[in-house]
Amino acid sequence: TDSYAVVGNPIEHSRSPEIHTAFAAQTGQDICYRKHLVEPGGFVAFARDFFARGGCGLNVTVPFKLDACAFADELTPRARAAGAVNTLMRRADGTVLGDNTDGAGLVADLHRLGWPLRGRRLLLLGAGGAVRGGLLPLLEERPALVHIANRTASKAERLAEEFAGSGNLSAGGLDDVPPGFDLIINASAASLADEVPPLPASAVGNHCGAYDMVYGPRPTAFMRWAAAAGAETADGLGMLVGQAAESFYLWRGVRPDVAPVLEQLRREMQ
Ligand code: ATR
Repeated sequence: TDSYAVVGNPIEHSRSPEIHTAFAAQTGQDICYRKHLVEPGGFVAFARDFFARGGCGLNVTVPFKLDACAFADELTPRARAAGAVNTLMRRADGTVLGDNTDGAGLVADLHRLGWPLRGRRLLLLGAGGAVRGGLLPLLEERPALVHIANRTASKAERLAEEFAGSGNLSAGGLDDVPPGFDLIINASAASLADEVPPLPASAVGNHCGAYDMVYGPRPTAFMRWAAAAGAETADGLGMLVGQAAESFYLWRGVRPDVAPVLEQLRREMQ
């Protein structure tokens, strides 16, 4: 039995063990997957020990994604672009590869929803790790424009400059958001307090999709705001299952079906 785990702090409410166990049952893979609480500063010691004992892979969540990035012997291009690692994999030669599957999980969920990206106008809210992790995978879908709007405009502008070579990017504050987007993705931490970044309703274009990276039993404040402005809405539960599916694929070389696992989590959340 190959051994996997998720590490974070807090970790008690992580759904990853349940998700990966369901993927393994579905695809007939013989794995075990646990969760571990690690104290701040304890990540490197934990990861060294885990891999030394024959562990095959780790998922890494808050607050250890930067530690995991430094720990990896080699990074995938998307992990390097994200500057953060959510997936570690021990390779045959004993070295550890660092990947970031968050952005791919987001893009996969947008595809699942049937929300097109190519040639569309995208608005990203926020300029932290969640936006940075999503930028490259989103730009690879060749949208017409990605505008990053953040409470602190300078942070959005720096990100737009950094990724300027990868697509058509612009940036600014929340008070100068252009109108008429096809898709708005909320990656700001405002959602955690069930607040909405103060945006003009004109940002919501015709047939606009509004995606919140946060999820819960009920629509978030951002989703309620967007629905009132005429958008179709979705929360981030599908992104959670999507990033797990990308990690599972990296580790096992088999693509699980996200739909039944997503339905199961949704039912349990009600
Ligand atoms: P993450 O890694 O989840 O992206 P982060 O790096 O702490 O978290 O970034 C949080 C983002 O949410 C930031 O873009 C932050 O805006 P600032 O750069 O101005 O701090 C944004 N944010 C947090 N609280 C917010 C609020 N109440 N309204 C709008 N934006 C908020």
